[in-house]
Amino acid sequence: MTPAGIPAPTEQNADETNLHPVARFFRSLGDALTAELGNCRDTVYARLESVATDMLAKWNPSAQVTPDQIIDYVLTASALCKQADLDGRFAEPPVSLYAGEHFDISALFWLDGTTSIHQHGFCGAFHVLSGSSIHSQYRFERHEVNAESESGSPLHADDAMCPAIAETQPRAIEGTLHLVGCEVLHAGSTRTIRRGQGFIHALFHMVRPSVTIVVRTITDDPKQNVQYDYRWPGFGFDPFHRHAPTIRTQQFLKMLQKLDMTGYQARLLEVLRVPI
Ligand SMILES: [Fe+2]
Repeated sequence: MTPAGIPAPTEQNADETNLHPVARFFRSLGDALTAELGNCRDTVYARLESVATDMLAKWNPSAQVTPDQIIDYVLTASALCKQADLDGRFAEPPVSLYAGEHFDISALFWLDGTTSIHQHGFCGAFHVLSGSSIHSQYRFERHEVNAESESGSPLHADDAMCPAIAETQPRAIEGTLHLVGCEVLHAGSTRTIRRGQGFIHALFHMVRPSVTIVVRTITDDPKQNVQYDYRWPGFGFDPFHRHAPTIRTQQFLKMLQKLDMTGYQARLLEVLRVPI
């Protein structure tokens, strides 16, 4: 369980000895990251990409922990550390294995297919624990827009109802998406996660399950770093932005679809502003 260079629990430390092997490994890894980075937010944010990439490669969780062990840990644990994504919005499912003050270590289980093409509002590194994935990277060339037309976009019309959303970055952008590289990742592969448009990627998981370990910052300001999802040929949008009129419109269109198909189709074209 414990790789060369990583301190094994001692008999004097009963707490460590009694820990589940998964908890012990990731506590050791998280404590080592904390020892290297400290608890100063600026330092963690400045150094986590390189330090997490180096440590994941060196500690090589794929050689130390299996997906079955993580499943066993989750199903038998009486308590877990603070869960960064308790609702399981990303991965199928995720589980946090170490909660630092400014970073989190999670295992992400993937059963089917692919992630969207996306960028990150955080930084860190990921490591393939098991499985195999096609990793594609992209570049987004944003089209020029004038500020006046952007601020007048319907996507912003209801932001006054969502005070948590700042106008620092648009919720949708247009441009051209370019594929810049493709590679196959195997168990043991480690890659850096950079914040923003310098790292746009997608993963297609070829083995069921595929499991990745992610070390990432967790106290990023969502108002400053929109985490765009991208669609071909060149549209980016904030998948976490909840635009109340759009959500309610979708709900009413679904209702109409069940009640009155003819009326639904006419209303749908109206909403999409397609000439009838
Ligand atoms: Fe990602």
